[in-house]
Amino acid sequence: MKKHANPYPFGWFKIAYSKDLEVGQVKPIHYFGRELVLFRTESGSPRVLDAYCPHLGAHLGYSNHEHTGRPGPVVGDSIVCPFHGWQFNGAGECTHIPYAKRKPPRACDQAVINAWSVEEKNQCIWLWFHPENEKPMFEVVDIPEAAPGNEEWSDFEIHEWELKANIQDVAENGADPAHFYYVHGTAEMPSSDTEVEFNGHQRRSVIRSRMKTPKGVIDGQIEAVGNGPGQSYTRFSGICETVLVGGLVPIDEERLKISFSFLKKRVNGEVPEGGVSQAIIRDICKQLEEDSVIWEHKTYHERPLLCDGDGPIAKLRKWFGQFYQVA
Ligand code: FES
Ligand SMILES: [Fe+2]
Repeated sequence: MKKHANPYPFGWFKIAYSKDLEVGQVKPIHYFGRELVLFRTESGSPRVLDAYCPHLGAHLGYSNHEHTGRPGPVVGDSIVCPFHGWQFNGAGECTHIPYAKRKPPRACDQAVINAWSVEEKNQCIWLWFHPENEKPMFEVVDIPEAAPGNEEWSDFEIHEWELKANIQDVAENGADPAHFYYVHGTAEMPSSDTEVEFNGHQRRSVIRSRMKTPKGVIDGQIEAVGNGPGQSYTRFSGICETVLVGGLVPIDEERLKISFSFLKKRVNGEVPEGGVSQAIIRDICKQLEEDSVIWEHKTYHERPLLCDGDGPIAKLRKWFGQFYQVA
């Protein structure tokens, strides 16, 4: 299979859900073909470091401390290496060596582990990835419905997949009207005139449609926003109130993690069971599984043969191209 020339675009990527990382908890994670460690400091902030301790190379994410009773895995704002107890803060600086009289000079005034930029927003933990370690060039978008403690919306309903797929192919899917008929079996070919606005690192499309329902004709709207290659959200309104918080993150050059979390608007404080909202969720998950058959086996053409009915694929590619570091 021919691969994309650049394996990983830069941007913000959903690497965990806030609820899955307690204070003082450590998790090994593997994205972008790298071994990393995620932890939450005692003051509550999520941090990500490269996984390997600069001392003798232990992976900071796998510890035995419950059995030995030694300190760890987090003390204050530092992660504790499970091998010899050295401590490192979220900036990758060595904060303490329990059995040394003096820190090694190299560890005195600079970071000794590569530290990653992390944001916690929308009940998710987002990692900034850049192949050359450039600092963030834009921000994670706030999705008000997903703000922690928003009582008007349900908890997340989470669906996740690990697929053999390229992140750009998944992004192109939304800009490809013809495949809905062939891959997803939709009754008609959706019209290819859905407007997608491309604005800097964001893209946004709005589909409006009048739908017949038992309660009469309702104006439905689907607003889809992409913020860089890794963050997206889709807001379904009118016929039902549902929000999809999407996240795509490359695991390595072949595999992709897709994490969808859905929010449903509460009615009189209750989360509606079933109904249109659940049908939408089911349909999106089904579509993803249908697409995966294509993604797993397709190749990548730098210069695809496109026709006039193909929708904004070429524009999408141009937009997506800005997130690849050109050597
Ligand atoms: S390997 Fe980490 S403290 Fe020794
Ligand atoms: Fe699709």
